[in-house]
Amino acid sequence: MTSYPIPRPVSGDVVELILDDHRLFESLLREMRDSTSDRVAVRAAFAEVLIAHGEAEEQQVYPRLRRKDAIDEELVEHGEEEHAEINEALLALLECVGTDTQKFDDAVETMNEVLQHHLTEEELTILNPAREEVGQDDRATLGSAFLEVRSTQLDAGCGSVDNVKKIVARAHQEGLLPAEGEES
Ligand SMILES: [Fe+2]
Ligand SMILES: [Fe+2]
Repeated sequence: MTSYPIPRPVSGDVVELILDDHRLFESLLREMRDSTSDRVAVRAAFAEVLIAHGEAEEQQVYPRLRRKDAIDEELVEHGEEEHAEINEALLALLECVGTDTQKFDDAVETMNEVLQHHLTEEELTILNPAREEVGQDDRATLGSAFLEVRSTQLDAGCGSVDNVKKIVARAHQEGLLPAEGEES
């Protein structure tokens, strides 16, 4: 599918699985900054795993940590808002026709900023409570639930421009992003 194969684990501790994806995002971002890499292929792999990861967190990880009282509603909403910003930055990146342009470099730079900010915050405020307050068995159960959605999303080609467009439009409707036309 892409020359950047995406790992497909089938089980594990949810904290470790999420961290592995975060490391993968960081290495794909580095590849996208490199003008000598196959930026089109890297971008495609990055889009697939980024969407699959975020959807799996929102559908399984955040709600289950919330039910266990490991995190509060405010953190869930904040996480979803940051995912929406990241997905908007991803759409801008996917819509760059050329990859040797200033526009592409700018889109990569914006993605770096919003994603790094989110990874840091998520690891500090969501993964730490999961480490400290959720037992090993539950973290493994959560890991399987996370991977199931992640895998379904990857099978569906979740990183396509059309799908990312739909996700961003939904975020505008749900108020996770400013209403369309109101952006500052
Ligand atoms: Fe994450
Ligand atoms: Fe996240």
